[in-house]
Amino acid sequence: MKVFIVYCHPSEDSFTRHVRDSFIQGITDAGHEYILSDLYKMDFKTDMTEQEYLRDANYINSPDIAEDVRAEHEKINSADAIAFIYPVFWTEAPAKLVGWFDRVWSYGFAYGDKSMKELDKGLILCSAGNPIERLEQFGLLQAMQRVMLGDRLFGRVKKAEFVVFDGTSREKEQRTANWDQNLKKAYDTGRQLFD
Ligand SMILES: Cc1cc2nc3c(=O)[nH]c(=O)nc-3n(C[C@H](O)[C@H](O)[C@H](O)COP(=O)(O)O)c2cc1C
Repeated sequence: MKVFIVYCHPSEDSFTRHVRDSFIQGITDAGHEYILSDLYKMDFKTDMTEQEYLRDANYINSPDIAEDVRAEHEKINSADAIAFIYPVFWTEAPAKLVGWFDRVWSYGFAYGDKSMKELDKGLILCSAGNPIERLEQFGLLQAMQRVMLGDRLFGRVKKAEFVVFDGTSREKEQRTANWDQNLKKAYDTGRQLFD
């Protein structure tokens, strides 16, 4: 089986980078393959052009899709699962990943008469600085899940899962205390992805 990983973090000096590496180790130890889009490293362009906006907003399924977007479409349709790995920025994915959705979830591919394959699994792995109790108390966790699972992945994957690594801010003791346990969780999530 093949997993397409969309990874979005501006720095290799991050907890999220370790989540990515542990998850990949789990996938490969289970005998699966992966393809990686590292959005910052690729310098993926995330602003829609006017032409892209007009195409999507007017539901025009024209073949003039930008090369970088087409490449992402091909990666998706060659995979069995998709995994998004990112840090939470202001209760959302980083703007770069939000912009990836703006452009890659294009009309005729991800909505309308869609050519996007229905994937077996969609997975979100995100790190959040706040503890889970705080995210839940204000409905923020639920909001993030609603957007990612109830909108962006909805109808595009057979099964979806949202995994949060919480309390990972640099000033929190929890970050260091839970480091190994969290990376084991990332590894196991990769290893058991298709179980
Ligand atoms: C600009 C910015 C915004 C952030 N916003 C949130 C937030 O809304 N909620 C939260 O729990 N953590 C937030 N964080 C913390 C990140 O999620 C944090 O960087 C991450 O969990 C720690 O992992 P890292 O070492 O991979 O960056 C924010 C961090 C930055 C830099």
